[in-house]
Amino acid sequence: MSDIILQIDGKEVTAREGATILDAARSIGISIPTLCNHEKLEPHGGCRVCSVEVDSRGRTSVVAACLYPVEQGLVVRTRTDKLERIRQALVEMMLAHAPDSEPLQELAREYGADKNCFEKERSFCIHCGLCVRYCAEIKRANAVGFIDRGARKEICFIPEIAAKECWECKECFPLCPTSALQAAFVLCKALTFPDAGR
Ligand code: FES
Repeated sequence: MSDIILQIDGKEVTAREGATILDAARSIGISIPTLCNHEKLEPHGGCRVCSVEVDSRGRTSVVAACLYPVEQGLVVRTRTDKLERIRQALVEMMLAHAPDSEPLQELAREYGADKNCFEKERSFCIHCGLCVRYCAEIKRANAVGFIDRGARKEICFIPEIAAKECWECKECFPLCPTSALQAAFVLCKALTFPDAGR
């Protein structure tokens, strides 16, 4: 594999082919916020707080740093007014679902997001998919998945699988960026009322 040389926030970076912008930025100590990224999981591109600006082949665009592969000569900016506004709006939307989430509150302080900007819809789930992907990719159990679509989308444990797999595991709980207790609650609900929500 050949090395790729690119520029991030004015610094030249050498990255291996196939690495993402997020990998390359971290390798030189540049921090990009993430919510749905996990080093052991395939990138998902769900939260978009890792958005960065790239200049490639004469065009400027906004891409997800956790998904976008490094390219020779790519110019990346991780902090611009436009990106600050995008992150602020994304955090405000997610705060409507999980206003007490510590990681979201931290991002809100950093990007000046107002947690009262949108009407509260306390679903707690911000659709990062960390629990779903961890259970599928690492545990290979598929005990938790998404149900419904759009604003009504939420996680759901599959009672038949969860009853066998989850009590000894619970490794997805601490991954949740909104509340580990929420995952515990959804799991208990699935096991106590297995026919609810079907
Ligand atoms: Fe990149 Fe969520 S961390 S989209």
